[in-house]
Amino acid sequence: MTTSPWPDEPPPCPRTLDDVLAYVFTRLTAGVSDRASPYRLPVLASQGADGGPDLRTVVLRGFAAHERTALIHTDRRTPKCAELRANPRAALLVHDAASNVQVRLWGTATLHENDEIAEAAWAATGPGQMVNYATQPAPGAFVPSPPALPEASPAQARANFAVVRLGFHALEFLWLSRRGHWRARFEWAGGQLIANWQMP
Ligand SMILES: Cc1cc2nc3c(=O)[nH]c(=O)nc-3n(C[C@H](O)[C@H](O)[C@H](O)COP(=O)(O)O)c2cc1C
Repeated sequence: MTTSPWPDEPPPCPRTLDDVLAYVFTRLTAGVSDRASPYRLPVLASQGADGGPDLRTVVLRGFAAHERTALIHTDRRTPKCAELRANPRAALLVHDAASNVQVRLWGTATLHENDEIAEAAWAATGPGQMVNYATQPAPGAFVPSPPALPEASPAQARANFAVVRLGFHALEFLWLSRRGHWRARFEWAGGQLIANWQMP
């Protein structure tokens, strides 16, 4: 039996705007620790150095619904860090293909390299992940051939480690189905949440 790409029923629960927001927050929270979840691998968008768009897949390392923040671990030498320093406006996109759901978040990114946010994230980083931050030369440098995995020197990896913290002020949920598509937008302004259905 093939699975329809257009499920008849909405993903469990969301019937009201409150339900939709709870649905998205639950999945983003679970995505941090669920390796099988599509919410674990969002796409982070920023403004590229040339003024055009830039985007890349990242691992969602933290999500706090009450603060409206998402955490991503990275190497401070990557181009995205320079881009976010120049223009902190950023967005995250998740596509859950099994449920035909797309989630977009828009917000402002801050970089954390030597504060308690970075220290807490580093403390939770295992040796297998440290190698990602220990490359020589820096990520993005042109090299004559694909490099071998670097020896992970924890001190060197720590020196390159950074956390991107995206505080978001807007969220959009889109669900496609045969019965009709649902789109909802949530915006936080002045301590208030404004929630609306939208034409898909
Ligand atoms: C499945 C997957 C997960 C990734 N996770 C991260 C991540 O958590 N942090 C990160 O900096 N790059 C991650 N990357 C690599 C980025 O997509 C990107 O190639 C790299 O960070 C350089 O991006 P930049 O040149 O825009 O800075 C991941 C790539 C893939 C394919």
